[in-house]
Amino acid sequence: MSSHSSSAQFPVARPRRLRRTPALRRLATETRLHPSNLIQPLFLREGIDQPREISSMPGVYQHTRESLRKAAAEAVSAGVGGLLLFGIPIDKDPLGLGATDPDGILQVALRDVVEEVGDATVVIGDVNLDEYTDHGHTGVLGPDGDVDNDASIERLADMAVVQAEAGAHVIAPSAMMDGQVGRIRAKLDAAGFPHVPIMGYSAKYASAFYGPFRDAVESSLKGNRRAYQQVPGNIRESLREVDLDLAEGADFVMVKPAGAYLDIVRLVAEHVDVPVAAYQVSGEYSMIEAAAAKGWLDRDQVVLESLNSIRRAGASIIISYWATEFATRLER
Ligand code: PBG
Repeated sequence: MSSHSSSAQFPVARPRRLRRTPALRRLATETRLHPSNLIQPLFLREGIDQPREISSMPGVYQHTRESLRKAAAEAVSAGVGGLLLFGIPIDKDPLGLGATDPDGILQVALRDVVEEVGDATVVIGDVNLDEYTDHGHTGVLGPDGDVDNDASIERLADMAVVQAEAGAHVIAPSAMMDGQVGRIRAKLDAAGFPHVPIMGYSAKYASAFYGPFRDAVESSLKGNRRAYQQVPGNIRESLREVDLDLAEGADFVMVKPAGAYLDIVRLVAEHVDVPVAAYQVSGEYSMIEAAAAKGWLDRDQVVLESLNSIRRAGASIIISYWATEFATRLER
């Protein structure tokens, strides 16, 4: 074994051969994004007559009904795969009544957008009480002041039904209440919407990366969501949440946030046989925009790299505040 002559010549490994020209690099690229991989979140704010830029998310707006329609049409022209709609009501109350009012702000948004874009893209409603409750929690509170899980899932399921009635193509429950997907599935089926899919926010961590979103929806939350969203240090808990959502009837699963949780995206993608979405959340957006505004990062390159990394980790669907803009600039 030790008798190799010192003159034995092995070819030097040269992986750089595949990087020599742009055409070789393009041919050897494994991961590519298509506009239909991207979902654009959009916000409709009740009672404003001009769109309002969200101060911690430059370039993202609270829309008027009119500007929402325009933003939806632009997203469709850019070819995005879906739109995720959020409503911001003027009035909040302990039960989040606006969430289940057929004329509530999110139902208005869904009706307008579906009328505007028809079936040209997938229109998704976020099912969560947090924008509508005066305490800012994602469910309703029990007498002890804690979120009452089982009362909350009834409200969430009613919310899903009014969204389906308003024309939502997909329902996306994000409240992290136990049993929410199953209860929503049962009520959707009973209300005549067995064909409406559910995109579970299945593995959703209690993350400080949601900070700017709380500005976006004028959240009134004082505390935190650690009693229902997941512990950032945990991995296996995500598989448990994903398995439960699938058992309850989820058609898609989601990991959120995306960038700091790419290990979870990869794990979930290898674990399930349904499409996997990842949510590049508000803080991920704001960090890059802020650094780019200071001239510290090349904005366009970094955004594309961040999106490609989420795709590479195994998400075929990426929810991103950059969806419309970057759908138009993906390499053809
Ligand atoms: C709940 C919801 C949140 C986000 C999406 N849906 C906020 C939360 O759970 O606190 C966060 C999205 C983001 O940060 O971009 N309505």
